[in-house]
Amino acid sequence: MKFISSLLIILSIVSICLSQTSSSVSSSSSSSSSSQECFPGYSGVNCTFNHNVTGYVPAYAHGGYVLFWGNFGATHDGLSVLIGGTTCSIFVAYEWMIKCYAGALPENTFYNVTVTQNGITWFQDNYYRYQTNCVNGETLNGYCQCETGFTGELCDVESSPYINTISSSSIDGGHVIADGWFGQDPQIGTFSILIGNKKLRIVQIGSTRFSGVAPQGNGSQDITIYNSTNNQLLYTGINSFQYDSTLCYGDCFANGICNNGVCECFYPWTGPYCFEFNSCQCPQI
Ligand SMILES: *[C@@H]1O[C@H](CO)[C@@H](O)[C@H](O)[C@H]1NC(C)=O
Ligand SMILES: *[C@@H]1O[C@H](CO)[C@@H](O)[C@H](O)[C@H]1NC(C)=O
Ligand SMILES: *[C@@H]1O[C@H](CO)[C@@H](O)[C@H](O)[C@H]1NC(C)=O
Ligand SMILES: *[C@@H]1O[C@H](CO)[C@@H](O)[C@H](O)[C@H]1NC(C)=O
Ligand SMILES: *[C@@H]1O[C@H](CO)[C@@H](O)[C@H](O)[C@H]1NC(C)=O
Repeated sequence: MKFISSLLIILSIVSICLSQTSSSVSSSSSSSSSSQECFPGYSGVNCTFNHNVTGYVPAYAHGGYVLFWGNFGATHDGLSVLIGGTTCSIFVAYEWMIKCYAGALPENTFYNVTVTQNGITWFQDNYYRYQTNCVNGETLNGYCQCETGFTGELCDVESSPYINTISSSSIDGGHVIADGWFGQDPQIGTFSILIGNKKLRIVQIGSTRFSGVAPQGNGSQDITIYNSTNNQLLYTGINSFQYDSTLCYGDCFANGICNNGVCECFYPWTGPYCFEFNSCQCPQI
């Protein structure tokens, strides 16, 4: 009895091993026939090119020509393009581009795209959207790419002011330039800009850049932008202003060389920033 049951266990183990071996053999042989004999990017019994779409230029909602960019290979047997299940009539097909004519479809909805050729289908869910009229931007793959200072789906919402970059100043302050967004038609009095808790004096301001004079300070300081009419805080850049102790105020006014934060003045200029005239050593007029 004991002998028979252990024989049964051995038999069942052997049969499990056999079935695992046969299944692994069959699956590896089938995958090697499709992947090993084809170049990368090709598959199937006949090594057909795996086409794909990488981008598109949409038509307007009332219909028109659509360009699909991608990799479509040299052969386009049985080519069809479906946008949201509706045929886009093929006008021309190249290796890098397919042009087709699409009918009218409602705006602001994304549609599935199916591109079939040579018995192979490329599909992308919610991929295509008809041309939308971006107010301050351009359409790319169904989305508006907004110009600086605008946001929202149609780029019709003006951004709050913000600073992307601002130059450093010496610890005695000095001239700085900032890039970012400061509104469509800003004036010198539109904003109050603070470095730490001291005011920066704005010299010139446009939509994407201002220049000004930073106050004295040290280390890293926050920059804040306030609406100067109602004192509303519009922007905070935490530690985004750097005082650089190796810089010299006014860069020694071009009358000397800045050496690690200390001006070395050309004769006859003098003073901490080379802004004073050494009258003792010069003939009086
Ligand atoms: C599209 O196809 C090309 C050519 O086969 C390939 O190099 C590329 O990686 C593919 N891109 C994507 C996103 O599948
Ligand atoms: C592969 O090529 C043969 C001969 O041209 C054709 O009969 C067959 O349908 C092709 N198979 C596929 C999957 O395209
Ligand atoms: C898009 O494809 C998804 C499946 O991925 C399907 O559920 C959906 O109904 C399709 N939408 C359209 C409009 O064909
Ligand atoms: C930096 O400025 C603070 C005041 O804002 C001052 O107390 C401190 O001494 C300064 N540090 C240096 C190294 O100048
Ligand atoms: C500043 O506040 C005034 C008054 O509330 C408002 O009319 C103006 O549009 C604001 N300006 C900015 C740039 O936020």
